[in-house]
Amino acid sequence: MTERQYKHIRCTINGRAVDKMVDIRASLTDLLRDDFSLTSVKSGCNVGECGACTVLIDGEPYNSCIYLAAWAYGKDILTVDGLTNPDGSLSPLQQAFVEEAAIQCGFCTPGLILSAQALINRGRDLTDEELRKQLAGHLCRCTRYENIFRAVRRALDESLGK
Ligand code: FES
Ligand code: FES
Repeated sequence: MTERQYKHIRCTINGRAVDKMVDIRASLTDLLRDDFSLTSVKSGCNVGECGACTVLIDGEPYNSCIYLAAWAYGKDILTVDGLTNPDGSLSPLQQAFVEEAAIQCGFCTPGLILSAQALINRGRDLTDEELRKQLAGHLCRCTRYENIFRAVRRALDESLGK
């Protein structure tokens, strides 16, 4: 039987400081879902193809299924749970998803919202084509993407005061 090996990590998850021993083979998806019950991080393809497991690491989107938990040392990790305002109300981007009916089963939604939030945080306008390209790494089996695109377009435009 192979002996398990562990590594100590220290990081922040949704603004909370975390100190933890992690299995060196565990993915960041495993850590967030199994150890912190952050089940908004979806476990889909597990090979970096669908985007369902996306989280922000130091503000950039990553597929957490192909990112080792051990690499999270010193990182600032954000899941969609950390986007909600302290009073529990939705962020403008989350609200746009609701208003544009961009959610059906919701499996792809947390990852999409985090990638879109990273784009909004850059504070730069994008053409429709650029925006579609930036979101292309996310697969959605339900919505045919149009409502998702409209929600992100709307939130990006609002963030730029358009
Ligand atoms: Fe990570 Fe599909 S579950 S990309
Ligand atoms: Fe179901 Fe996107 S809403 S996969």
